[in-house]
Amino acid sequence: MNEHARPLTVSERADELEEQMMHELSERIATRSTLFYLGDGKVQMDSGDKLLAANPGKHFLMGADPRLPKMPAKPTLIDFFRTRFATTSHLLQSATHALKGGHPEKVVLACLLHDIGVASFIRCDHGYWGAQMIEPYVDEEVAWAVRMHQALRFFPEPSVGYEYPEMYVKLFGADYQPEPYIVAEYERARNHKWYMTSRLITMNDIYSFDPNATVNLDDFIDIVGRHFRQPKEGLGFDNSPSSHMWRTLMWPTRFL
Ligand SMILES: [Fe+2]
Ligand SMILES: [Fe+2]
Repeated sequence: MNEHARPLTVSERADELEEQMMHELSERIATRSTLFYLGDGKVQMDSGDKLLAANPGKHFLMGADPRLPKMPAKPTLIDFFRTRFATTSHLLQSATHALKGGHPEKVVLACLLHDIGVASFIRCDHGYWGAQMIEPYVDEEVAWAVRMHQALRFFPEPSVGYEYPEMYVKLFGADYQPEPYIVAEYERARNHKWYMTSRLITMNDIYSFDPNATVNLDDFIDIVGRHFRQPKEGLGFDNSPSSHMWRTLMWPTRFL
């Protein structure tokens, strides 16, 4: 058998792809933002001059990072789910729970998106980041509910049987007290007309689900289509107040 006619095995193909990507990256220098270093407990940033000196003849990456999954030219929310969210199972489980509970589609969408701040971006104040990302594209009520769920999670609501999450005792310790800004946010949210929408997120915000239940992003594509105003230019290119956030997720290692 002619060796060259043999189709490549999966692992050979992966090796080839990896080599191609390394080569592409080796043409350009990817940089880490200050935030990435802060996460390692370091207050520092890369000096452009030093990096150029250490990589003679090269320039900085000013676009897609070839180590990350390729994104289409006009990315949709679903493309971000598939190529940039580190995990989607919690979002899908929460949305599935809301769907099975017979809640309105707006609530299902809010559950599907409630933790995109964490899944794609950052943990600290994830409700605020997530709300800001989606605000131009969803009903005001959905963005509000996503923003507020972060605070509401810490406060029981006996009228609907919502208790302080046991998971939080495990995660933060029994003596953890939310900061004053979270308490104040909760006080404001409790008197708001959309309080129950955000409360419904917290009630569907589940960590463990029936292990036999299957969750699938495909089940929510229609709901996303009906309630998320996908810009025709693609997320990141529509000049909205949060376009830059989507671009940053797309190109996290661009020099500028
Ligand atoms: Fe959350
Ligand atoms: Fe959550």
